[in-house]
Amino acid sequence: MIMSPCEKYYHLIFGILLLSLVSACNFKDKPKKYVIGFSQCVESDAWRKTMLEEMKRELSFHPNVHFIYRQADGNSQKQISQVKEFLSQQIDILIISPNEAEPLTPIVEEVFSSGTPVIVVDRKISSPLFTAYVGGDNYSIGKLAGQYAANLLKGKGNIIEITGLPKSTPAIERDMGFSEAIRNYPSLKIIQKVNGEWYKQKAKEELSKIADKYPDVNLVFAHNDMMASGTYEVYKNKGLPVPKIIGVDGLPCNGCGMQFVAEKIITATMLYPTGGEEAIRIALKILNKENFNKENILQTTTLDSNNVHIMQLQAAKVASQQESIERQKKKIEEQVKITQNQTNAIYGISFTLVLTLTLGGIVFYSLRQNRKINKKLQLQNLEILDQKNKLEEMSAKAQAANDAKVNFFTNISHEFRTPLTLILAPLEELSANAKNQYSQNQNFTLIHKNVIRLLRLVNQLMDFRKIEVDKMRLRATENDLISFVSDIIQSYQSIAHKRNIDLRMVTHERQLNVWFDVNMLDKVIFNLLSNAFKFTKDNGYIHIYINKSENGNDAVIKVEDNGIGMEADTANNAFELFYQGDYEDYKGSGLGLALSKELIKLHKGSISVCSEKFNGTTFEIHLPFGNTHLEKQDLAVRTTKPSVLYEDEKIYTTDLETEQIAKNEVEEIIKDKEYSLLIIEDNEELRCFLKNKFQAQYEIFEADNGQSALQQAFDTVPDLIICDIVIPGKDGIALVNIFKTDIRTSHIPIILLTGKTKIEHQIEGMKNMADVYITKPFNVVFLEQTIKSLLSNRALLKEHFTSELPSNLRTQTVGKLDRKFVSEFTSLVESNFCNEEFSVEDICKRLGVSRIQLYRKVKALLNINVHDYILSTRLQKAKYLLQHEELNISEIAYKVGFSSPAYFSTVFKSKFGVTPKGFKEK
Ligand code: FRU
Repeated sequence: MIMSPCEKYYHLIFGILLLSLVSACNFKDKPKKYVIGFSQCVESDAWRKTMLEEMKRELSFHPNVHFIYRQADGNSQKQISQVKEFLSQQIDILIISPNEAEPLTPIVEEVFSSGTPVIVVDRKISSPLFTAYVGGDNYSIGKLAGQYAANLLKGKGNIIEITGLPKSTPAIERDMGFSEAIRNYPSLKIIQKVNGEWYKQKAKEELSKIADKYPDVNLVFAHNDMMASGTYEVYKNKGLPVPKIIGVDGLPCNGCGMQFVAEKIITATMLYPTGGEEAIRIALKILNKENFNKENILQTTTLDSNNVHIMQLQAAKVASQQESIERQKKKIEEQVKITQNQTNAIYGISFTLVLTLTLGGIVFYSLRQNRKINKKLQLQNLEILDQKNKLEEMSAKAQAANDAKVNFFTNISHEFRTPLTLILAPLEELSANAKNQYSQNQNFTLIHKNVIRLLRLVNQLMDFRKIEVDKMRLRATENDLISFVSDIIQSYQSIAHKRNIDLRMVTHERQLNVWFDVNMLDKVIFNLLSNAFKFTKDNGYIHIYINKSENGNDAVIKVEDNGIGMEADTANNAFELFYQGDYEDYKGSGLGLALSKELIKLHKGSISVCSEKFNGTTFEIHLPFGNTHLEKQDLAVRTTKPSVLYEDEKIYTTDLETEQIAKNEVEEIIKDKEYSLLIIEDNEELRCFLKNKFQAQYEIFEADNGQSALQQAFDTVPDLIICDIVIPGKDGIALVNIFKTDIRTSHIPIILLTGKTKIEHQIEGMKNMADVYITKPFNVVFLEQTIKSLLSNRALLKEHFTSELPSNLRTQTVGKLDRKFVSEFTSLVESNFCNEEFSVEDICKRLGVSRIQLYRKVKALLNINVHDYILSTRLQKAKYLLQHEELNISEIAYKVGFSSPAYFSTVFKSKFGVTPKGFKEK
């Protein structure tokens, strides 16, 4: 299996972690914890204390052992209950030194039988049911003491024996051994036995009672050194000669057996080791399942004046060695602690190392990952860079293509200029020569105006392009702004005069020298003034203020009018290129103001607008004084007096002039025609063109927005309506819908004339009941024929209405509303024919139309005058009555609404060529 470097690394880390874990857990086999219970029969004497000390000393080498210790104050019952307590504490082994053999045997057997090992020390029980015994051979001790006594007394003498507790085995065995040894000497006699119960005080009391009785006593054998020293004190106290005294135990401590011997308080003592150490050692052997001996008999010896000093020295040496061992042990313990601390430190360091390695691994891995990601990112970056380069290339190509396109348009615009100018010049000449031929002149004016308009657009486009490609350079000279602007204003004076517009310049300055390019600034001023004239109504005002700014740094030109003003949105975008504001009836090219702004920018000046809908507009231009704000190459040397360019004057003022002339001249033509047309068209030129075209044949009404269209239609009730679809205020379709659903205008044929060529628009128009839909550009002859045919159809319809009785209207070609109108009108007349006071006003009221609307509508639908119709209805009724009713002429005359029979006869005769009377007689 091939591992990646990363996998290898992980295996290594894992190994280290495992090792650390194992080493952390791999302590030396920890010794098992044991609980040793030690039941001591009594502890008040030195021997018992020594035994306990020995045990503890030995236990100090076995920290795994928990040692529980109880002593029974020489009371067997107490000791029994203490052992029971041990049992409940679940000790692992019991060490017991039974106070008395018999009373303690059952409890020891119970413990042993329960499986808990039992070590009996010093005193025994009277049963073999125990695990091991540790202690001296008390019989031998007794015997040894007996022999020593015999030697001492040379086989002859009297002896008193002071025994320990009679039921304790050392007392029994020592007595047995002693007696046995004495028995071999017939001259030796144990004259008295005293029970000292192991206690000095008890021994003294008992001995005191009999001491005087046996003044010939040679030797006292006491079962322990304490009782032996008590014996000495009794004889001393009594002033009796002190017999030889033999004790047991031979402890080296102060106030103990060895000292008594050395100080000759007693003659000798039999060494009786406590076996504390041995007991613990054997206990551990048993617990650790090692081999051990059941019987562990401790050695004894006799200590007397011959060997006691050596023994004392040895004991002292042992004691000092013991102390040294203790010290070393302490040191070892300290070392162990240090080692433990070091081990802990090593574990800590190992853990930290492992942690560091792990973290290092993680960091290493992260770095690798980072490197990988970085590589990926680098690749992506390269790709992006590549794409960016491609995009840049493409955009450069697109830019080049766009430049080529723009250049093309600029060049072609340029190409337009020459032919336009060449058309313009001869056109002006022709126009001048043809002044007296009215219609020709109208056409010339139209052509002239449009050529001028094209020229202006082309010029503005070209200027823009120049600014865009940075080719438009300022040629600033120092000029008097006042005279410059007032020259321009002059060009508008005649228009202002004709339209009664208050045009004036307001200034406190006589002269204001400013650095500007005359050919640029005149375009700006012309443009602002032309706009002002377009949006200011007749009788309004246009004021031009020229002053210094408040801080005196700039010249300020304000062009203020009280014209129609702009909506906030329109004003905000006024200087945007190609933005055509939403004005009531004028749409800008989106070039003039944008160009003006650029031109002012070239002068390092500013232009702004402030306007309010219906409340006029003010344009404000700031031009800095001096020429330090201009580049050197922007300054030119002035050669001649600045003069306003003829071309600029012409292209900005011609529009305004010709419109006015056209209007004025058209207004002069007033004729009375058979049919009338309402032309609804917001483009004034087209409207005028149509008007001029048809005014010879028809009476023309005009409307340039939705509102005036409705007004005109209801006021004049024309015979035909030509309506544009896109007009300000309301669109043409909506107008058609209103006209066709209003009783006053529903009969009028409507031609929708529009630039909307899509078939959906045409369907929409026809749905709204337009009669004809003609798209722009249209053929004038076709329009003319359409008008004629619609009007003649209407004439046929009239005939249809009038040849039949109105109540019999069945035509499908006339609108529902018109049929309703005719039927309402005729039934109204019929039901009132006998009412001589019934008048036209009554009909208007009932039908909800004006007098003129009634006349026009009745004329249009029935081709008859309303009065004539009423009269003819009455006469028709009279005819019927004359034929079918037995009434006289007068009665009939009144019945059909005539106020006098004579007038009735006159009218009847003039209509039918016969008098009523003559008719009836026929
Ligand atoms: C101590 C003691 C010793 C004696 C032993 C016998 O209590 O009296 O002097 O040798 O007990 O059990």
